[in-house]
Amino acid sequence: MSMSSQDAVHCLGHLLLPTPPGISELYARQAVYRAIAAMDRLIRSLIRREQPISKKRLIDQFPEMSMPGAPRWQTALTRSLGLLENNKEYNSGVQMATLDDEGVPRVRTLGSRGLLHPKGCPNLPVFVFSTDVRMEKAPQMRKHPHVEFVWWFRGSSEQYRFSGVARVITSPDVDLGPAGPIQEDTLALNKLGEQGFDWEKKMGELYDEGDDNGLRASLNRPPPGTRIPTYETAKEWVPEVPRLGHAKDDADRQRQEEGLRNYALLLVEPFEVDWCELALSPHQRTKFRRKGDAWEEWPVVP
Ligand SMILES: Cc1cc2nc3c(=O)[nH]c(=O)nc-3n(C[C@H](O)[C@H](O)[C@H](O)COP(=O)(O)O)c2cc1C
Repeated sequence: MSMSSQDAVHCLGHLLLPTPPGISELYARQAVYRAIAAMDRLIRSLIRREQPISKKRLIDQFPEMSMPGAPRWQTALTRSLGLLENNKEYNSGVQMATLDDEGVPRVRTLGSRGLLHPKGCPNLPVFVFSTDVRMEKAPQMRKHPHVEFVWWFRGSSEQYRFSGVARVITSPDVDLGPAGPIQEDTLALNKLGEQGFDWEKKMGELYDEGDDNGLRASLNRPPPGTRIPTYETAKEWVPEVPRLGHAKDDADRQRQEEGLRNYALLLVEPFEVDWCELALSPHQRTKFRRKGDAWEEWPVVP
């Protein structure tokens, strides 16, 4: 049974017990109705204020849905990201699986930092993520470049699973060793290189993105994953690092430099996509595979 907000306000008004002395029941009830209606308006305005921000942020990361030549899964993914029912949830996070040196799969959540493609090649998208290069996933991706990640949209009941080849972009001071072998022809990553894509600029933009000074500060902590004596230890760490160009003093500038040295971009060029649409009845599942620079697709049993 669904209840309108007016019904809800009415029911809640009847919960008023008892009426304070000297105040008529009608007056008290009206006051409660007004208070509840004001709360209702406040909550709605907060929700309204929040939605366009998250929707814009996510959509901005992705090229236009109507981009001619983009694979159909990209159009579908852009639509999924734009759906209001999906944006109510935190949905820019994917679960990224890598392999460690023992061949054990390792999985964790990563926030998507968008999609890009070489100039003139809308059919060759590359996903962008970012990390602290001292975390385990960065060397894992360098040594074992085959990765898989999954994106679940609860609102629209869709799952996208991407298999691809990863490339780690580090600051010039960092050496993760030689890249592991791949069989795939990484046309997109190669073309971005040939076209002279400015990774340093991209790193700076993503490092600066958002208002979260604390996220930047996390790059100045001791190496992630190292054991600490107690949680109190965290109080000794610098809590905030400003955006580039907003340093107040030399200490800030040094922290930015150190942070950028620890910052890395994780690129994934997808070769296979598995898209499940569970809101449809019967469910639909579609496989996409890139052959050369073209995507082929076919329906499969869900
Ligand atoms: C919602 C969410 C978003 C996250 N986004 C990122 C991210 O963008 N980059 C990142 O390195 N870690 C991110 N993390 C933390 C990772 O899940 C993980 O704990 C950390 O990167 C260490 O992983 P690793 O030791 O396997 O490298 C995120 C965690 C959550 C819960």
